[in-house]
Amino acid sequence: MKYILATDLDNTLVGDDQATKNLNQKLAAKRQELYLIYATGRSYSSAVELMHKKQLLEPDYWVTGVGTEIYHQSQRNTFWESKISDQWEPQIITSIAQSFKQLSPQSLREQNPWKISFYLNQPQNSDILEELKTQLNELGLAYQMIFSSGRDVDILPYNANKGLAITYLRKHLHIPVELTLVCGDSGNDIHLFEQSTLGTIVNNAQPELINWYECNLSPNLYWSNCSYAWGIIEGLQYFQLLK
Ligand code: GLC
Ligand code: MG
Repeated sequence: MKYILATDLDNTLVGDDQATKNLNQKLAAKRQELYLIYATGRSYSSAVELMHKKQLLEPDYWVTGVGTEIYHQSQRNTFWESKISDQWEPQIITSIAQSFKQLSPQSLREQNPWKISFYLNQPQNSDILEELKTQLNELGLAYQMIFSSGRDVDILPYNANKGLAITYLRKHLHIPVELTLVCGDSGNDIHLFEQSTLGTIVNNAQPELINWYECNLSPNLYWSNCSYAWGIIEGLQYFQLLK
């Protein structure tokens, strides 16, 4: 039976070119044994650009925009899009979030109909995220907010994130949790690790993910000794998926 390798791109698969190359060679030699999925915060166009720039393998599926978009052979999954449109009110959320001067909108390329993204100007201003949540909650809006790398603020539908998108694909492909390995380094990967699959946190992970890991220790989760794609290789070996 095939297994799934679902990995984040920036600072996980990508970050150390030698490591990426080494992992690519290992996976290419056994390409038929796995479903390869890239799960990234980037937009699809930006992720594809990175694939070409860093000579990444072509994945079977793309989960982009922090789980708001799923692509297969360049085709968007419209079923997923209609599912995550449930109770999603982007205009109201955007207008409230824009009133916080500590938040600067990210580029248009990184926005999509289900992803409203900002940069927090100063990491020490993270209290305002609680204030923003309070205002959204008072209006009874359905959403989730994901804070990554002390800087990136993503507001998404309540039922869209990397973890939920991977679970949707995993079920679609009929692969059990024991044969699914997810890998990541930052806050937007936390939901990946919450899906009861196997998980590898690369050594160079951000504090928000390490803190989460330390509060959620489990035999299914492994914080690797190596960084970037070396950490993915270590995780594949630890869980005996790469023989
Ligand atoms: C990527 C995306 C950005 C997002 C961040 C965290 O950097 O480009 O839009 O905020 O991931 O999810
Ligand atoms: Mg990352």
